[in-house]
Amino acid sequence: MSDPTSSALLADAATLTTQEVVEWTKKLNYGTWRYQKSWTPMHIVDAEGCYFTDGNGKRYLDLSAQLMCVNLGHKNQAVIEAIAEQARKLPYIAPSYATDTRVELSRLLLEVLPEGLVKFFFTTSGTEANEAAFKIARMYTGKTKIIARYRSYHGSTMASIAATGDPRRWAMEPGGKGQGFIFAPEVNCYACPIKHTYPSCNIACVDYLEHMIENEHDVAAVLIEPVVGTNGVLIPPAEYLPRLREICDRHGVLMIADEVMAGWGRTGEWFSVDHWNVKPDILVTAKGITSAYVPLGLCATTAKIANFFEDHFFAHGHTYEAHPMTLAPAVATIHEMQRLDLVNRSRTMGAYLGEKLHALKAKHPCIGEVRGLGLFWAVELVKDRITRQPLNTKQDKVDGKATVVDQVAGDMLKRGVSIQAWISHFVIAPPLIIEEHEIDFAIETLDASLAIADAAIV
Ligand SMILES: Cc1ncc(COP(=O)(O)O)c(C=O)c1O
Repeated sequence: MSDPTSSALLADAATLTTQEVVEWTKKLNYGTWRYQKSWTPMHIVDAEGCYFTDGNGKRYLDLSAQLMCVNLGHKNQAVIEAIAEQARKLPYIAPSYATDTRVELSRLLLEVLPEGLVKFFFTTSGTEANEAAFKIARMYTGKTKIIARYRSYHGSTMASIAATGDPRRWAMEPGGKGQGFIFAPEVNCYACPIKHTYPSCNIACVDYLEHMIENEHDVAAVLIEPVVGTNGVLIPPAEYLPRLREICDRHGVLMIADEVMAGWGRTGEWFSVDHWNVKPDILVTAKGITSAYVPLGLCATTAKIANFFEDHFFAHGHTYEAHPMTLAPAVATIHEMQRLDLVNRSRTMGAYLGEKLHALKAKHPCIGEVRGLGLFWAVELVKDRITRQPLNTKQDKVDGKATVVDQVAGDMLKRGVSIQAWISHFVIAPPLIIEEHEIDFAIETLDASLAIADAAIV
């Protein structure tokens, strides 16, 4: 490779070989959440529908919709056109101005969000939407602490990483993280963190959370992923969220629902809280809001919170808040979801996918559990079905060890399927437009590659 600062290189960028693109990317950029030495990014040149294509022309089925975000599939023409149209019309205007697009999106949000969420702050990522939620909750309540749960991810910036329960937080402990975040046990009936068994436990994990509120004092909010995403598609029992809602109300604590991943039809409802008819005080989302074509996040609040700021200083903002280029594609995305009936499709195709995954469980001893809602599924691998001990640990992940799930995912990639793996499970969340024959191909591939995990447990 030549000197990266040379002008000859810049002029030649379009003519680089695939290998050169990979090498320059690795040399000049950071790979996220990993040791840099082992990063060999794939060169991607195209993507369409449920597939993306590498520099050698090989196609991959996108079984986790990139980072569980390309819900419409790649290259949806209506969304692309909305981006182009907005660029021609008004590419940028400061957040203090009113625009047609801003009103159009905000009115559409009133249609699709859970009832009661009526005032909106836009960001350009999920983590910033959470940062907004934390500040709003603290300003509104005058309190500080936010109770999150251990198996969670809420973003990478200062406060959001402090609110993240999973090991991505560890590198920031203790000095580099925002203050005031504490952790409750997650609801996880397959591997209960407090060693109870559902239903005889009477969901003791939520009682524990109430105990924390009573003893901590100064609690502004409880932050939950209603259906936990990367940390294993953890679905609460039916009574969990209604009971948590009641506890929050009784103690004057806000409920923040982080639907960055679980929103936008992923679970077979517009938002995952809709499954239990629970109304959060603040809902945070991103990803599927534009099918990830442009970076947009949303922090939605109730009228009660909105009214508070009529006479109190709203101390938050960004240059890119309500950026027109981010809002127009969200309008198009919602219209496309409605036109293609993708929320219902998530439910029906999700049932098809779930059946196939359960059949795999019957065949592969390495699978401890499969669970899911809509087109959002986890396949959890274990050393032993009785002890439910995972194949790898959180420490293995942060130590950069080759986990078994990563090895299986690597083998699947060779066979033409891209899947997200985390510690000891896969997160399967394809574009909501996926067809049965594509699911069949994905399952055949997972079936073949799981031989690696079966071999690892004997
Ligand atoms: C539940 C949840 N919250 C927040 C985030 C952070 O979103 P972003 O990566 O857009 O900052 C993520 C990202 O995966 C997420 O899954």
